[in-house]
Amino acid sequence: MAPQTNNALPLQVAIIGGGPAGFYTAQALFRARPDIQVDLYERLPSPFGLVRSGVAPDHQKLKRPIRLYEQIAHHTNFNLMANVTVGVDLPIAALSQCYHAVVLANGTESGRLMNIPGEHLSGCHSATTFVGWYNGHPDFRDHVFDLSHENAIIVGQGNVAIDVCRILTKTVEELRHTDIAEHALDALAESRIRQVYLVGRRGPVQAKFTYQELKELTELSACALETPAEELILNPASEAELAKSDGATRGRVRNYETLKTVAIESLSTKPRRCTLRFFLSPIKLMGDQRLQQVIFERNCLTGTVGQQAALGTGEYETIECGFLLSSIGYQGTPMTGVPFDSAQGIIPNQQGRVLDNDNPVPGLYAVGWVKRGPTGLIGTNKADAKETVTALLSDLSNHTQSIRTGLAGILPLLKQQSIKVVQFSDWQKIDQIEIERGLVKAKPREKFTRVADMLSVVAAESNNP
Ligand SMILES: Cc1cc2nc3c(=O)[nH]c(=O)nc-3n(C[C@H](O)[C@H](O)[C@H](O)COP(=O)(O)OP(=O)(O)OC[C@H]3O[C@@H](n4cnc5c(N)ncnc54)[C@H](O)[C@@H]3O)c2cc1C
Ligand SMILES: NC(=O)c1ccc[n+]([C@@H]2O[C@H](COP(=O)([O-])OP(=O)(O)OC[C@H]3O[C@@H](n4cnc5c(N)ncnc54)[C@H](OP(=O)(O)O)[C@@H]3O)[C@@H](O)[C@H]2O)c1
Repeated sequence: MAPQTNNALPLQVAIIGGGPAGFYTAQALFRARPDIQVDLYERLPSPFGLVRSGVAPDHQKLKRPIRLYEQIAHHTNFNLMANVTVGVDLPIAALSQCYHAVVLANGTESGRLMNIPGEHLSGCHSATTFVGWYNGHPDFRDHVFDLSHENAIIVGQGNVAIDVCRILTKTVEELRHTDIAEHALDALAESRIRQVYLVGRRGPVQAKFTYQELKELTELSACALETPAEELILNPASEAELAKSDGATRGRVRNYETLKTVAIESLSTKPRRCTLRFFLSPIKLMGDQRLQQVIFERNCLTGTVGQQAALGTGEYETIECGFLLSSIGYQGTPMTGVPFDSAQGIIPNQQGRVLDNDNPVPGLYAVGWVKRGPTGLIGTNKADAKETVTALLSDLSNHTQSIRTGLAGILPLLKQQSIKVVQFSDWQKIDQIEIERGLVKAKPREKFTRVADMLSVVAAESNNP
C-alpha cells in the first residue's frame, strides 16, 4: 500500500469496550477530528459498561451519562459493534491490521481475591459477582446466593461495599421501583439477613467510602447503623490526616462526624442492623463446606501521615457468619496478544500508550480502568480519555500512514463465525422493550439478563416489515 500523508486519510480507530472510557474516547476523537471513523466493539449486546451493570439500581440519577453516550453513538462516523468479544471472536492482531489505532477500554471485570484460606467455601463471594447479579449482567444471571443466614460480612470499605450493603439492607419495597433484576428482587424478598458487618482493615479516617454514600446508610428505613466507639479513637497520624487541609479532608471530616453520631450500640427497633467495624483483616474463613465463621486479626496503623498501613497485632476475633462478600476492588483480565501487568491487573502504559517491556506498542492504546486501575468515578474517565486521545493523535500525526480497511476488513471475519453484530439501532430496540417491560411494574426498565433473549429481540424486530 502506498504511504500517504495523514491529512489525506480518513483515520480508522477501533475502541474495545463500551463503558464510559470507550464513549469518552470516541467523544474526544470526534472533537479533535470530526472526520475520523470510530468503531466501538463491545462484548455484550448492551453498551454502557458499569453504568448499566455496576452503578446501583437505587442510584438511577447517576446513570444520566448514558444520555451523552447515546448522543455520541449518533455521530455519523460511529459504529457500535456489540456482541463481539475481542480476543475471542476477533484477535487483536486483526484489529491492528485493519485500523490505524486500537484503544483498549475493556475495564477491569474481575473481583480481587483476598487470598486467604477458606475463600473457596460456599457462602463466600466477590462483591463483583453480587453486583453483576442484581444488575442483571448475563455473566452472573445463574449465580446462586444463599441469603438464609442472619449474619453477613462485607470486607472492604469503599463505595462498592456501601452499595452492596444497601442492597442487602433495604426493604424490597425500597428496591421494587428501581431497575434491579427481577431474579435478584425475588431472592432478596426471601432474605433472612438481619446483621451486616461492614469491615475495614484500617481506621475510620482511612475508609474509602464518600460522605454521601455513608449518609445514605444512616437513612435506611429498616436498618440501623452503628459502630463501636472505641474503634473511632484516633492515633496522632490519623488526627493529622483529618486536620490536613485538602479536598479529600472535607469528606473525611464529615464521615468522621457522622460516625461519631452512630458510635453506640444501636437501640433501634429497626429489623436490620449494619455495624461498621474498623482495624480488622480477615485471615481465615472457617466452615464445613459452607462458611460458618470468619477469623479476623486486629490491626494497628503504621506509617507516616497519609501513608498509614494496617499491621496485625496478633490479637484475633471471630465473627459468626454464613454469607460474605469481599469488596476489595476490581482487576483486569489478560487479553491474548495484549501486554498485561498481572501484579496490578492493568495494561502497562504510559499516558495511554500500551507498553511491552517498557516500549510503546505502535497503534495500541489503553483508557479507563484497564489503563489506570479500578478507581474513580464515571466522569474521571473523561479526562483520562482526553490524555489517551492526545497521545494517539500526536503519534499518528508524526508518521505517514497507509490506508486501513477499517470495518470492511473485519466484517468477513465475523460473518465466517456467524456472529450477530448488535448495532446501535439494534440496541435501541432492546432498550425500548426493556423500558416497556419496566413500565408495567413502575420500574425504569426490566433488563434482559440473557444474551440469547437480547439477540432474539433483535432477530424478531428485523423480521418485522
Ligand atoms: C459496582 C460499581 C458501582 C459504581 N458506581 C458508580 C457511581 O454510582 N457513580 C460513579 O461516578 N462511578 C461509579 N462507579 C465507577 C464507574 O463505573 C467506573 O469509573 C467506570 O465504569 C469505568 O469505565 P471503563 O469504561 O473503564 O470500564 P467499564 O465500565 O467496566 O467498561 C468496560 C466495557 O468493556 C467491555 N469489555 C470487556 N472485555 C471486552 C472484550 N474482550 N471485548 C469487547 N468488550 C469488552 C465490558 O463489557 C464493558 O462494557 C462504579 C463502579 C462499580 C464497580
Ligand atoms: N456512588 C458512587 O459514586 C460509587 C459507587 C461505587 C463505586 N464507586 C467508585 O468505584 C471505585 C471502586 O470502588 P471500590 O469500592 O471497588 O474500591 P475502593 O474505593 O478502592 O475500596 C476498596 C476497599 O477494599 C479494601 N481492601 C483492599 N484490599 C484489601 C485486602 N486485601 N484486605 C482487606 N481490605 C482490602 C480497601 O482498604 P484500604 O483503603 O486499606 O486499601 C478499601 O476499603 C471507587 O473510586 C469508587 O468511588 C463510586
